[in-house]
Amino acid sequence: MTRITSVPAAHRSTIRCWTPESLRAEFPILQRPVRGKTLHYLDNAATTQKPRIVIEALVRYYEEWNANVHRGIHYLSEQATQAFEQTRTTVQRFINACSSREIIFTRGTTESINLVAWSFSRRFMQANDEIIITHLEHHSNIVPWQMVCEERGLKLRVVPLTPEGELDWEAFERLLGPRTKLIAVAHVSNVLGTVNPVQKIAELAHAAGARVLVDGAQAAPHLPVNVQELDCDFYAFSAHKMYGPTGVGVLYGKEELLEAMPPYQGGGDMIASVSFEKTTYNVLPYKFEAGTPNIADVVAFKAALDFLNQLGMEEVATQEKKLMEYSLQALREIPGLTIYGNPAWRCGAIAFNLDGIHPHDLGTVLDQQGIAIRTGHHCAQPLVEWLGVPATARVSLGIYNTVEDIDALVAGLHQARKFFRM
Ligand code: ALA
Repeated sequence: MTRITSVPAAHRSTIRCWTPESLRAEFPILQRPVRGKTLHYLDNAATTQKPRIVIEALVRYYEEWNANVHRGIHYLSEQATQAFEQTRTTVQRFINACSSREIIFTRGTTESINLVAWSFSRRFMQANDEIIITHLEHHSNIVPWQMVCEERGLKLRVVPLTPEGELDWEAFERLLGPRTKLIAVAHVSNVLGTVNPVQKIAELAHAAGARVLVDGAQAAPHLPVNVQELDCDFYAFSAHKMYGPTGVGVLYGKEELLEAMPPYQGGGDMIASVSFEKTTYNVLPYKFEAGTPNIADVVAFKAALDFLNQLGMEEVATQEKKLMEYSLQALREIPGLTIYGNPAWRCGAIAFNLDGIHPHDLGTVLDQQGIAIRTGHHCAQPLVEWLGVPATARVSLGIYNTVEDIDALVAGLHQARKFFRM
């Protein structure tokens, strides 16, 4: 296992002067028309498109290396294992984890959070202990905690929001008490785009003796993530939101916590030895990876991380910030359009509504123009209810989005106003 402590290479750009326009050619799907129109894909918070090198890595794995990992002594199994473990080391460097033992592969952010919910609570929580979440969480960072609370007699506390859609800090400090064992918080909201101060949350939590899980699904594609700097205890994210394949997630956890936690699932590969009298478990990270993993997609995920490393996550954040500012300004000029939330730092997503038009109708009209957005509650029903609406439209940005995409969106919104006579 490799240990690294230096600044992660992921944060530096090795391609000089790339622009979103220059990246588009790398994404085959962006070349296809949709409904006879140029595709303007603005649903990146739901999933991102894949660059050719990721698609090729997937095909190459099946054509050249396909075998099960960690089991065979034959050539192909060695190759597959090596490729699989290389992704683990690449992830470790990408988020600057201390050790590759701290990187667990899962099916996605949801499974990563469920793993912590069940395994952490079994080891570290007693009846009446408390878990704090926030009002802007995705269902995947609400429901698993409700389930463990119900089963284990724990209490769930919720940090309210300020009118800007940021965490109410005073309320958070009041909620944090001697019974708080864990705080589970999104790094970036998938609806409002609010960037939460997770480093500050971790400081406060640790001072109170609590641990912190960060749902990084909407942050890892957009911002440099350094888990040692954030000092979070767990960090969860998904490959498919980072230009990688679906079906792969990562759970980062501090080694001493993962060591102490019981396995989440039982099966092959997670054991050291099995007998009917006593089973002993494998070492980290394999203790948490029962059964045959999603080998091909994990292998292809490395190509996505290499791609992002080449662009440099600092540069990705800078490019996206420019487009975010352009988008906000353009949307604010549309009569009757409400943008939800006004956080000091917004990243990735903008939720909005146009007066008198249901977001689903709006989404349908935009789709006719080849513009893909998401509408609905965005798997964050408590947050959308707090906004006081049944649903919103949402635009979410990725590295290949351009000013032209936003101009097309704005033209589409004007067209929708005309169509609905607003
Ligand atoms: N969580 C994803 C989204 O917000 C699916 O769209």
